Order: sequence, then structure tokens, then C-alpha cells
Amino acid sequence: MSNPTDPRQMPGADPYSGNRKIDPVTGYDTTGHDWGGITELNTAFPKVVIWALVLTFLYSVVAWILLPAWPTGRGYTRGLLGLDQSEEAIKGFNSLADRRQDWLSRFADDKFDVLSLSADATLMATAMPAAARLFADNCAACHGTNGQGGPGFPVLSDETWLWSGDAEEIATTIGHGINTEDPDTRYAEMPAFDWMERSDRLTLAEFVSEMPGRAVDFESPAGTLFSENCSSCHGETGAGGLEIGAPSFTDEAVIYGQDRETVMQTLRRGRHGVMPAWSGRLSEAEINLLALFVARLGQPAGGGQ
Ligand code: HEC
Ligand code: HEC
Repeated sequence: MSNPTDPRQMPGADPYSGNRKIDPVTGYDTTGHDWGGITELNTAFPKVVIWALVLTFLYSVVAWILLPAWPTGRGYTRGLLGLDQSEEAIKGFNSLADRRQDWLSRFADDKFDVLSLSADATLMATAMPAAARLFADNCAACHGTNGQGGPGFPVLSDETWLWSGDAEEIATTIGHGINTEDPDTRYAEMPAFDWMERSDRLTLAEFVSEMPGRAVDFESPAGTLFSENCSSCHGETGAGGLEIGAPSFTDEAVIYGQDRETVMQTLRRGRHGVMPAWSGRLSEAEINLLALFVARLGQPAGGGQ
């Protein structure tokens, strides 16, 4: 079929038709193609491109020989230079870990001596920032970035403790947790008082909410209710019991809250806060390091950072 717009059917479209001529402006041979007065020059393929192709090919051959390149089923050709970036990375990581181990080993159980470790300022300058990172990675999600706590999660940066502010005791809490599956877990159970008359619970909630910073009367009916039901765990004067993790009511520190409504909730449902155990996830030395860090968070100097 004849189609005048089909380039293949235009006059001079066939390079072998003998219509090829020299372009007068550039002096190049033309392909003979003429697009409405624009002629196509028959220039050679640029040499620089050919060289670039040849050089990159040669480079790849050299790279195949020297560097890891071809997969071979389960492995790969390692190359004459034997370079392996993952091995390099692991080597670098191990040497960092070795350097850390030098000072971290001083926190192992048999050497964990809070006073002498705290007195070593050079050690503290390395150890406390490392502890702060461990804390940020593992603890801050519940206890807050600076250990400031939150509803249900105790403050670690004050001087009141559920268990103890001793680094060794804190290490036990961190290692075995509170109310966990760990055989050595700490155990803290606030029983539910749902069996108690609601009016008595209200009286107690009022009484407890007034305790911080105020002198309450333990001879009053509310005081008697407290002595009969609560003081076995929370202490005669409501100052708490460190052996069973029963919070003090006489200070400002709370886990859940010491306002009337929250205490009513606590009495109705009981409480059984869970602090995870870390002994499987962190090393002994890391746990002691964190314990010292947390103990120092509670001291006025703060954190040792
Ligand atoms: C999943 C949340 C969670 C994480 C993560 C967590 N904790 Fe706790 N932690 C708790 C809770 C809840 C309690 C209080 C348990 C209770 O009600 O008796 C607690 C209690 C503690 C106590 C006892 C405080 C006291 O006054 O005696 C210490 C110390 C402690 N955590 C340190 C840590 C450290 C260090 C880490 C990081 C390794 C950590 N916690 C990670 C939830 C958490
Ligand atoms: C068997 C011991 C035990 C008895 C009895 C007990 N408590 Fe508790 N109570 C605890 C423990 C342990 C906790 C901490 C629970 C936790 O860590 O999750 C607690 C927590 C609380 C809290 C939460 C404090 C906070 O900081 O948020 C309140 C309030 C409380 N008890 C009030 C009472 C009152 C009022 C009575 C008496 C009617 C009472 N408890 C009797 C052991 C006891």
C-alpha cells in the first residue's frame, strides 16, 4: 500500500538506493534520509563511548578476579583479595565490644562494689553514659526517659523506693523482676477489698489520700479500719514495707495514685504491677551497671552524667 507519510516510502529512504550524498555544511556522509529538508548525517559511533564500554568491561573482569562477585550455590567467589565487608564489620564490632568488656567486667557480680566503683571517676565517666543508653533502650518506655515514672510505673529518680534504693537490691529487682515467672521474682500483691463495705472503702480512701504530709489520727474509726486491714503490709503509720514492696502513703511518691478515686479503684480491684525480669536479656554486669545508674538517679547529684 502506498502511504506518503511512511518514512520508509519517502524518496531517498533506502540507504542503499544510491541517493546518499555529502552534507555540504559538515562535510559528512549522509544516510540519505531526508525529513522534509533535514538530512541525517552518517556520523561514526562516538569512540569515547566504545572506550568507556571496553574499560568498564575490563574493570568488571578485574573486579571479578579480585573481589567477591559470583554466587556459587551456597557461597560465592571470594576474590583474590579475600575482602569481606560483613567480616570487617563483625571485627570492628567485636573490637568495640572488647573495649567495653574491659571496663564492664568490673561490674560483674563478684566485683560489684558500689563504693569503690562510684569513687573511680574515670570509670564513671565511661560507664554512666553507657548505662544511660541501656536505660533508654530497655527501661525508658515504662519508667520515662529520666526515670520520672508515670501512672502504674514508679518514679526511679526520687529517694523513695518500693523495695530499696541500694544498688544491690535494685539489681535483684532488675534481674528477677516483680510479679514475673522468674523463680526468684519479687512478689507484690495488693489484694482486692471488693468484699468490704463500699462505705468503709470510701472512708479508707479518704484517710489514705490525706496521709501525705499530714498527721492523721490512727485512733479514729478510719484509723482503726486502716490498722485492722492495711497496716500489716503498709506499716503501722502507713510508711510502707520494703520487704514486700508495699508503697508508703506518707510521702508524695505513688505508683497508681493516692487521690480518692484512684485509691477506690485500687481497693476494688487490687493491684499486681509487673516489672519484667531482665536476667535473660541483659548480662549480670549490665544489670549491675543499670542498678548503680538507677541508684544514682535517686541521689541529689543525679545520674552521675
Ligand atoms: C514493661 C514496663 C517496664 C519496663 C520495661 C521496666 N520496668 Fe521497672 N517497673 C515496672 C513496674 C510496673 C514496676 C512496679 C511494679 C510494682 O507495681 O510493684 C517497676 C519497678 C521497678 C523498680 C523498683 C522501684 C522501687 O521503688 O523499688 C526498679 C528499680 C525498676 N523497675 C527498674 C527498671 C529498670 C532498670 C528497667 C530497665 C532495665 C525497667 N525497670 C524496665 C515496669 C517496667
Ligand atoms: C497483703 C499486703 C497488703 C495489704 C493487706 C494491703 N496492701 Fe495495699 N498494697 C500492697 C502492695 C504490695 C501494693 C503495691 C502493688 C503493686 O506494686 O502493684 C499495694 C498498693 C496499694 C496502693 C497503691 C499505692 C500507689 O502508690 O498507687 C494503695 C492505695 C493501697 N495499697 C491501699 C491499701 C489499703 C487502703 C489497704 C487496706 C484496706 C491495703 N492497701 C492493704 C500490699 C497490701
